[in-house]
Amino acid sequence: MAKFKGFLFGLFLVGSIALNIFFLTNNLYAGYVNKQQLSWSQRAAAEAEAVASVSCSGHGITYLDGLFLDGKPVCECNSCYGGPTCSHFLPDCVANADSGDPLFLEPFWMQHAESSALLVAGWHRMSYGFADQSSMSQVLQNHILKVHSISRNAITKGKYLVFGAGSTQLLSAAVFALSLNSSSLARVVAASPYYPVYKTQTDFFETAHFEFQGDALLMKRSSNSTGNVIEFVTSPNNPDGLLRKAVLQGSSVNAIYDHAYYWPHFTAIPAPADEDVMIFTISKLTGHAGSRFGWALVKDEDVYLNMLKYTQLAELGVSRDTQLRALQLLKVVLEGDGREIFHFAYEKMRDRWEKISQIVSLSKRYTIQDIPPQYCNFFEKVRGPSPAYVWLKCEREEDTNCNAVLRGANIIGRLGSLFNASDRYVRLSLLKRDDDFNLLLYRLKELVSKEGGANQLIEPKLIVL
Ligand SMILES: Cc1ncc(COP(=O)(O)O)c(C=O)c1O
Ligand SMILES: *[C@@H]1O[C@H](CO)[C@@H](O)[C@H](O)[C@H]1NC(C)=O
Ligand SMILES: *[C@@H]1O[C@H](CO)[C@@H](O)[C@H](O)[C@H]1NC(C)=O
Ligand SMILES: *[C@@H]1O[C@H](CO)[C@@H](O)[C@H](O)[C@H]1NC(C)=O
Repeated sequence: MAKFKGFLFGLFLVGSIALNIFFLTNNLYAGYVNKQQLSWSQRAAAEAEAVASVSCSGHGITYLDGLFLDGKPVCECNSCYGGPTCSHFLPDCVANADSGDPLFLEPFWMQHAESSALLVAGWHRMSYGFADQSSMSQVLQNHILKVHSISRNAITKGKYLVFGAGSTQLLSAAVFALSLNSSSLARVVAASPYYPVYKTQTDFFETAHFEFQGDALLMKRSSNSTGNVIEFVTSPNNPDGLLRKAVLQGSSVNAIYDHAYYWPHFTAIPAPADEDVMIFTISKLTGHAGSRFGWALVKDEDVYLNMLKYTQLAELGVSRDTQLRALQLLKVVLEGDGREIFHFAYEKMRDRWEKISQIVSLSKRYTIQDIPPQYCNFFEKVRGPSPAYVWLKCEREEDTNCNAVLRGANIIGRLGSLFNASDRYVRLSLLKRDDDFNLLLYRLKELVSKEGGANQLIEPKLIVL
């Protein structure tokens, strides 16, 4: 009887706590706002809105931590715009399609200004650890798992999570972890064309346990993958946007899957990824490269523990402020049915790809990569390409340095040899702001129309908004 009473009491207690939490989370903000009880946060909110309200003509932004002149925030203009309010277009400006800065998502976050804004109290998470003494927010972990389940891009069940300062840190942590207790030198490889950081980072941090060996395809051809091998697999690949699988197989080969771009924004998701080591980043998911936040999903416990140890020794875990920011962003991603950002990003990237494809298709001198339509697990249908980069090739015999050819046309891309490919290729970024993309399109039109002489059908037209 006593037991039953205890049970009832327990039930009541749990129910009452749940109800309280429900009412608190639903009415907390509303109650405060209605009664105008905001006190210490008012000034910060007013300051944030005052800075954001300064007009930069739609071609620049002001920041809280930017420069101020006579107490007024200074506009940071988009490339090719100048003047105090960024209203001045610089006509001879070069189209810079070099970096992979994912600013194409800025408009999404401006549309969600209210839900994505964050106010950080002066005493927020001052401790080294969370209450459970860990360095990873449990709530953020839950949100990450939810984002994967909605985008249907990875199987998270039975995997450990590690946070990193961007995926860049986790790429290095994974190499350390996979080579730490191997008896022979681990050889690190990637199939060309590959993201250059795999080589530069591995070379720079080289230890007695591992070294960068070069092209995985060469290793496969020489049939010499004896001993411990670590293969970076980027899927979809930077620079060419193609889905990839490890080139090397065998019991001594460990793959690190870099899934920075494995989101519906950039590729069809044929099936949820289920690899032993998978690395993701908010940089290309939400566009917040500046926040430096990535995560790894790791199957093996020892590898996980070694990666965790790496991030602990490097910086005692990821900044709690960064984790708070990432949490706020993922809350917005998960709003409603959690699909809005994927639709927004996919449509924008597809539109950019189609516009570029259309221009290049009129050319005899330049070609771009072919990405076949594929079934997508997220959209539940066959869908076309929407890659992060154009992998442009100069087809003319004499154009052995394609980047130089493009530079002559006021376009800056990234040279093929940086990706261990031929300099007949140039990578052009499609991730930048609308202003940058529009100018790239304009310069490409100029380039292609010159090639066709008077018969060319298109006329370059720059849409200055
Ligand atoms: C393939 C690939 N991996 C990793 C990164 C780095 O991302 P993060 O900002 O998470 O360090 C990039 C950035 O361009 C990338 O292209
Ligand atoms: C490291 O060694 C332990 C046992 O000594 C083994 O269980 C584990 O799989 C090894 N890890 C790697 C990454 O080789
Ligand atoms: C690719 O890298 C290998 C070394 O791993 C080098 O020998 C080769 O010349 C490079 N290829 C290109 C096209 O840069
Ligand atoms: C295979 O590679 C290892 C490590 O680079 C080297 O020591 C060995 O000589 C190579 N074997 C053959 C048959 O090329």
